[in-house]
Amino acid sequence: MFVKDLQFINFRNLKRETVHFQTGLTVIQGANGQGKSNFLEAIYYLCQGKSFRTLKESDMVCWNKPYYFLHGNIVFKKRLFKVEVGYELEKKRKVAKINGRLIQKGESLNFSPIVFFVPDDLDLIRRGPEERRTFLDREIGQLSLFYRDCLQRYKKALRQKNRLLKINRLQKKIDRELLVPWNKQITYFGSRILQQRARFLSIWGQLAAHNFHHLFKNDNNEKGNMRLSLEYRPGVSIKTDLMGTLKEIEREMEREISAAEQEESEKGFSLVGIHKDDFSFLMGGKEARRFASQGQQRSAIISLKAAQIQFYSRNFEKPIFILDDIFSELDHTRRKQCFLLFQEAQQTFITFSLDEILDDSFIGQGIPFSLFKIHEGTIKSVI
Ligand SMILES: Nc1ncnc2c1ncn2[C@@H]1O[C@H](COP(=O)(O)OP(=O)(O)OP(=O)(O)O)[C@@H](O)[C@H]1O
Ligand SMILES: [Mg+2]
Repeated sequence: MFVKDLQFINFRNLKRETVHFQTGLTVIQGANGQGKSNFLEAIYYLCQGKSFRTLKESDMVCWNKPYYFLHGNIVFKKRLFKVEVGYELEKKRKVAKINGRLIQKGESLNFSPIVFFVPDDLDLIRRGPEERRTFLDREIGQLSLFYRDCLQRYKKALRQKNRLLKINRLQKKIDRELLVPWNKQITYFGSRILQQRARFLSIWGQLAAHNFHHLFKNDNNEKGNMRLSLEYRPGVSIKTDLMGTLKEIEREMEREISAAEQEESEKGFSLVGIHKDDFSFLMGGKEARRFASQGQQRSAIISLKAAQIQFYSRNFEKPIFILDDIFSELDHTRRKQCFLLFQEAQQTFITFSLDEILDDSFIGQGIPFSLFKIHEGTIKSVI
């Protein structure tokens, strides 16, 4: 999948421009605060119909302007799609079209796959479980409409259940009859979500382990006990070998939910389910969050991102890869190794502000690329 061209009008600080792209590597260079991340956000938005930075449409409208508009052509599964999205501030109205057809509310653009990697991601290991669940939901959700649907229904059922539990707490009684249908839904959708999360984590984990090994293979001092693995920690204690059978998962969930009934009613919210899930990065079997160095944690995340690219490329379609200002954080050797890992993407957009990186990592290495320079929201094609 790749973006052929993109026109933007009043998208954040990007004024009005049409830009044409090649497949392969596109480098966007500019000083701090010139519009590099905004530009990447526009590309992501065009493909996914949402931002990776904000949920508020109005944030993306250039200050003092009445609307923003994006228009681009995307090649997806060898077909050309003309995508238009816009938002009008005054009417609070978003309009999205694909090949002239209006996209209804709730329907997503969702041209997948697209992998993005922004500085915030480097903290994925250190952050709380909610961030890691968001990561799973976004990434699995982009591949599976079924997953998105299950998740939406699960969240709805959970909200209803929590509302009831709050009332139960106030009234100091358990209204079992009303809880049963919500628990049924939580079990039904939760078990399906759990199964998908387990499956994807296992596949990505294996690829990431391989990548991690590749990143460290020339560092003699890091050799040996440094195997990376991802470990799923479901909010329901399911034995890993049971993760394949839905019936078993459902039964276990049901059992744990009913065992927690009393406590849930006392606390006034749900304690058991996939909304408590988490996953861990282990290095040599130890929690990376507690024991790994910052550089090792960074390499683990790079390995996971690369794993996603490889997985999408081998099972769906070669993805678009968006890399915002990560290179300035890596040393020379790691940058080179990263390139090898990320090469299965069909189109890669990279931003950075430092000139040296261009010479050092691209020109010096003989890697072909197109170059855009960005200054005060205006983008110019250089190569
Ligand atoms: N809705 C908006 N309207 C106008 N300008 C905006 C809007 N939202 C953000 N900006 C501004 O756009 C400018 C460029 O932001 P951006 O995040 O793209 O910078 P950048 O080139 O990625 O910088 P850095 O190298 O520091 O990451 C910033 O000065 C920011 O304040
Ligand atoms: Mg930026």
